[in-house]
Amino acid sequence: MKFKDIQTKAIHAGEASVRATGAVAPPIYQSATFTYTGEDSYHDLRYIRLNNTPSHIALQEKIATLCGGERCVVTTSGMAAISTALLAFLEAGDHALFQDCLYGGTHGLLADLHATGVEMTSIDGGEPEGWDAHLRENTRVIYVEAMTNPMLRVADLRAVVAFAKRHGLVSMVDNTFASPVNFNPLEMGFDIEIHSATKYLNGHSDIVAGCVVGASDRIDAVLHKLNHLGGCLDPHACFLLHRGIKTLPLRVGYQNQSASSLASFLDAHPGVERVVYPGLEHHPDHSRAIQLFRGFGGMISFCAHSDVAAADRVVSALELPACAPSLGGVESLVTRPATTTHSGMTPEERSAMGIEDRLIRVSVGIESTDDLCADFDRALEKL
Ligand SMILES: Cc1ncc(COP(=O)(O)O)c(C=O)c1O
Repeated sequence: MKFKDIQTKAIHAGEASVRATGAVAPPIYQSATFTYTGEDSYHDLRYIRLNNTPSHIALQEKIATLCGGERCVVTTSGMAAISTALLAFLEAGDHALFQDCLYGGTHGLLADLHATGVEMTSIDGGEPEGWDAHLRENTRVIYVEAMTNPMLRVADLRAVVAFAKRHGLVSMVDNTFASPVNFNPLEMGFDIEIHSATKYLNGHSDIVAGCVVGASDRIDAVLHKLNHLGGCLDPHACFLLHRGIKTLPLRVGYQNQSASSLASFLDAHPGVERVVYPGLEHHPDHSRAIQLFRGFGGMISFCAHSDVAAADRVVSALELPACAPSLGGVESLVTRPATTTHSGMTPEERSAMGIEDRLIRVSVGIESTDDLCADFDRALEKL
């Protein structure tokens, strides 16, 4: 049976193999290996590293359905998903185009990729007119984030798909920040959708995981690379991720609303200098975000009228959000990206992306919006 709504998909997709055993909730198949039943390919042997235990199969089917993709492979982290997907489609001598304001970890990975002989050029995701000039005969991949971390820039995603199709490139998008609740890049024509499942998909800040979704032949290439590199997800983490996903639409639906309200509250606050949230009219990509996304997500960045020391006083004074990197959980978190997620970059690289040292990033959880606004109001008195 095909389910229309994401709430039904989150609960029921992928459950058939589980229900066949009589279990209502998917059990954890904590077995490294499974009896040999005549499989004729190495990749079909049933073994945790080959990502094909019953725990993997049910979970991967659920995520593929949520994303509208043919198949999914889960990985041991978001970075494992990104690195494996890139290595599946790029080799020494190839060239790739990368958006110029990516998550710090991905930015760091590009230096490693470069060292393996892959050439790369960064592009402004909002200026498709400039992309042709960077195309080379050996260009194979174009890579963007649906909403960038932490400036929440939204590339011209339709133009990325059209450009990739025109030039025979593999288009890849990290959809972590938007989540499948707000955006379905595969339905728009992207070839590969990647998530740090550590964030919204799992939603409870208790595991690290990732996934890659797309058409069957593409996922086969990623899976074979993953089987060799070894970044498989453990069955217990599969179980937790599977459980977390069941409430994804409810959580993200609430987080969309709550973050919109908190962003407006901060925008009107006399202690706040600027708020970065794609749902606010003054965000540079607001009109694109309205066209592309069903919701603006749960992430906000802001600068108070303050220096770095005062920004740290505000962060310390907050009672509800813990000061920690990561995002997308049920509990709100705050961090200064210059000291955590983007600390691997030089100050010049950060400043080119608009990331001031005093910028505070907020991951809005599912606490009461009124309580969160009151907490920020009180903490901003510490300026
Ligand atoms: C947009 C984005 N992609 C990927 C990652 C990496 O995910 P993980 O920490 O699960 O490896 C992160 C981590 O913060 C992220 O924000």
